[in-house]
Amino acid sequence: GPAKVHASQVSSIKVFAESNGASLIPSTYHSITDLHHDDATHDLAPSIPVIDFSLLTSHHHHVKALHQLGMACANWGFFMLTNHGIPENLMEELMNKSHEFHDLPMEEKKEFADNDPLSPIRHGTSFCPQAENVHYWRDYLKTLTFPQFNFPHKPPGYSRYCREVAYDYSHKIRAVARKLLEGISESLGLESNSIIESTGFDSGLQLFVVNLYPPCPQPHLALGMPSHSDLGLLTLLMQNGIGGLQVKHDGKWVNINPLPNCLIVLLGDQLEVLSNGKYPSVLHRAILNNADTRISVVLSNGPALDKEIGPVVELLDKEKPLFKSMKYRDYFQVKQKTRLSDKCSLDEIRL
Ligand code: SIN
Ligand code: FE2
Repeated sequence: GPAKVHASQVSSIKVFAESNGASLIPSTYHSITDLHHDDATHDLAPSIPVIDFSLLTSHHHHVKALHQLGMACANWGFFMLTNHGIPENLMEELMNKSHEFHDLPMEEKKEFADNDPLSPIRHGTSFCPQAENVHYWRDYLKTLTFPQFNFPHKPPGYSRYCREVAYDYSHKIRAVARKLLEGISESLGLESNSIIESTGFDSGLQLFVVNLYPPCPQPHLALGMPSHSDLGLLTLLMQNGIGGLQVKHDGKWVNINPLPNCLIVLLGDQLEVLSNGKYPSVLHRAILNNADTRISVVLSNGPALDKEIGPVVELLDKEKPLFKSMKYRDYFQVKQKTRLSDKCSLDEIRL
C-alpha cells in the first residue's frame, strides 16, 4: 500500500510532490475513500449569487442591491462580487508574487515556520501537522496585515515590491469589506454602521493567507482543505483561475468557478453570531486536480481581538440569543482547539 508519510516530516507538500514522482499519495493524506461517492454534488449548477458592488454604492439601485445582498447572505453565506473597483493589474501582480513566494527555496521559507496561529508571519503545510489525523495537500503563507502590517521583509530581493503590492491590496480589500458590512447591517434592518461599531472593525484583525495546492496524482483521495467555516466576519478570496473551491448549499457541494476578476465573498462565524443565526457562515472546502497548481489569496476580515462579540441587541426583541458572547481573541483559541472541520467551534458557543 501507499507509504505512511506524516506531514510533520514534510515541510512543504509542493517540494514533496515535485520530488516524489510516484503515482500514489501517502495514505496519511487520504481524506475520504471516494470524494465523489461520499459527498453529493449538485448535478445542475444552482444559480450562484452575484452581487454588483457598484450597485450597492449607487443611489439609484441601493435598495434592490441590499435586497440581493440579504438574500445571498441568508441563503448561501456566499456570493461572487463584481465591479468591486480593485484594479485588475493589482490582482494580477499579487498573484504573480504569490507564485514567486512559494517558488522560493525552502531555506528562505523555513524561516517563517511557526506554530502560533497569531504569529505575524507563518509558512507551513497542511493545517496542523502535529495534531491532525489526516493531512491536507496544501502549503500556505499566513501573515497578519491589520491592525499591523507584518508582511515579510525577507528575502530582500523579493520582498520590497511584494510588500507594496500586498499592502495596497489588503487596504483596498478592507475598504470593500467595510462597505459590504454596512450593506449587511442595513439588510438586517440595522443602522449601516452597526456591525462596524459593535465589532471594532476599524481596528479589526485582518489575516492574509496565500494557499498553494500542487497537482495531486490521486485528487479524489485527498483534500486541499477540509469542510470548514471561517472564523471572522467576511473572507474575500481570489484565485488563479484554477477551480477547486466548493461551497455547501442545501446540503450539497457546489463547484465555484469564479467570473473573471470577481472576488469570492464568504461569510464567517462572527456574522452568524452577530446576526443570531440569520446569516450563517458558509461551509467550504478545497478539492484537488492532477494537472494544475492552484493558488488562492484569502483575506479574512474580522473584529478587533479584544471586542466581545454576541448577537446584536436590536435583533433580540423577539428572539432568544443563540450564541454566547465572547471576545474574538478567545474565539480564535476555541477555533484552534476544536477540529477544523465543519462548524465544531461555533457549536462550542451555541446556547
Ligand atoms: C480557505 O478556505 O481558506 C481556502 C479556500 C480556497 O483555497 O479556495
Ligand atoms: Fe476558509
